[in-house]
Amino acid sequence: MPALVLVGAQWGDEGKGKATDLLGGSVDYVVRYQGGNNAGHTVVVGDQKYALHLLPSGILSPNCVPVIGNGVVIDPAVLLSELAGLQDRGVDTSKLLISGNAHLITPYHRTLDKVSERFLGKRKIGTTGRGIGPSYADKINRIGIRVQDLFDESILRQKVDAALNDKNQILVKLYNRRAMPAELVVEEYLGYAEKLRPFVADTALLLNQALEDGKVVLMEGGQGTLLDVDHGTYPFVTSSNPTSGGACTGTGIGPTRIDRVIGILKAYTTRVGSGPFPTELFDEDGEALRRIGGERGVTTGRDRRCGWFDAPIARYATRINGLTDVFLTKLDVLTGWEEIPVCVAYEIDGKRVEEVPFSQTDFHHAKPIYEKLPGWSEDITKAQTFDDLPKNAQDYVKALEELSRCRISAIGVGPGRTETIQVHSLL
Ligand code: GDP
Ligand code: IMO
Ligand code: MG
Repeated sequence: MPALVLVGAQWGDEGKGKATDLLGGSVDYVVRYQGGNNAGHTVVVGDQKYALHLLPSGILSPNCVPVIGNGVVIDPAVLLSELAGLQDRGVDTSKLLISGNAHLITPYHRTLDKVSERFLGKRKIGTTGRGIGPSYADKINRIGIRVQDLFDESILRQKVDAALNDKNQILVKLYNRRAMPAELVVEEYLGYAEKLRPFVADTALLLNQALEDGKVVLMEGGQGTLLDVDHGTYPFVTSSNPTSGGACTGTGIGPTRIDRVIGILKAYTTRVGSGPFPTELFDEDGEALRRIGGERGVTTGRDRRCGWFDAPIARYATRINGLTDVFLTKLDVLTGWEEIPVCVAYEIDGKRVEEVPFSQTDFHHAKPIYEKLPGWSEDITKAQTFDDLPKNAQDYVKALEELSRCRISAIGVGPGRTETIQVHSLL
């Protein structure tokens, strides 16, 4: 039985939380494979709205086992408070599984994230300040702290000591901050050990056994393709691999197990933080997309930068992730425009370019070449089938499908679970 991957196809905030929640009722496991609490996934169930940062969106489906895979970086204080918040609202969180190999975010990672951004000045990445980059850097430098280290006090002490050895020099001598006593970090983190212990497991083994037993596993990405550290708009990216390849390394599920890769694509484009964004709008259309689409970050409360749909980006996401299906979200937000511009290619230094250029400099110079598609004014939020959509909305979806080179299998017409048109089955 299948493993499915769900990835953001733009710069994050495409509606992955809603899409995962929609599938959550039909799958047995939902596993987050990378990122941490830099993610903000809003899920609307009936009249209830949930903002999830670290927990997989499957936690809201009663029969689904939510899993935090080895590729995720975990801030334990955030995890425990997110769990407590859901428990207070009557959500059963007891089935959660956490990989013992996942790395931890510590107070020194958060501090380093913030001070290094400040020192970058105008060149800052615009990170979420949650310590994501510094925690992944320690993982790669082989001085990270893993969840399983919490259960061996002497190992934990040695590892925190080793990590702080050079970090305290950097904090004090380079950034003019106070040194962080290792003992304080160890004390705090030992306090999390017993609270987390019931959830910790060999998740790679359990997930593979589940697949052997015919269960369905959905791998939920955070962030998006253009924020990928290898394939995104480096250096304006996050420090992990949100693209579909990251689902294998971040869970321990091999690529031959994966049957479907679903890309979540917004009917227009948004971005939070710094970095190139060819279709960005600085006029009243951009303001209207932000207002109507509610484009404000769930994690940091920052306004999202807004622009028209960018087809070269969509084609790039199809290619890099090997998408089999697209879930197009927020089509309803475009209701009311007489014409909707869609970027079909770029003009770079006087030449027409069809694909995202590999050169960062070229991408910074890319100007969108727009084709205008006729808009619609009818309310589409009650549409249940493709045929319920007005002709111009149907044509907009068909045009995006052709430009993206991937079939569109579901269309979001509102934030709620039921506000979705299923064109092809996603399972
Ligand atoms: P994620 O990070 O990819 O999970 O996306 P976010 O939750 O950060 O941002 C997507 C926002 O759009 C959330 O507020 C969702 O409730 C909302 N949303 C998702 N799909 C739709 C849709 O089809 N229409 C509308 N109007 N809102 C949607
Ligand atoms: P979801 O899962 C949108 C952006 C930050 C910044 C860059 C690096 O909700 O789609 P980081 O803190 O990760 O080092 O910041 O990545 N970013 C996101 N943008 N959605 C997200 O997550 C994001 N997670 C990180 O704004 O530009
Ligand atoms: Mg988000």
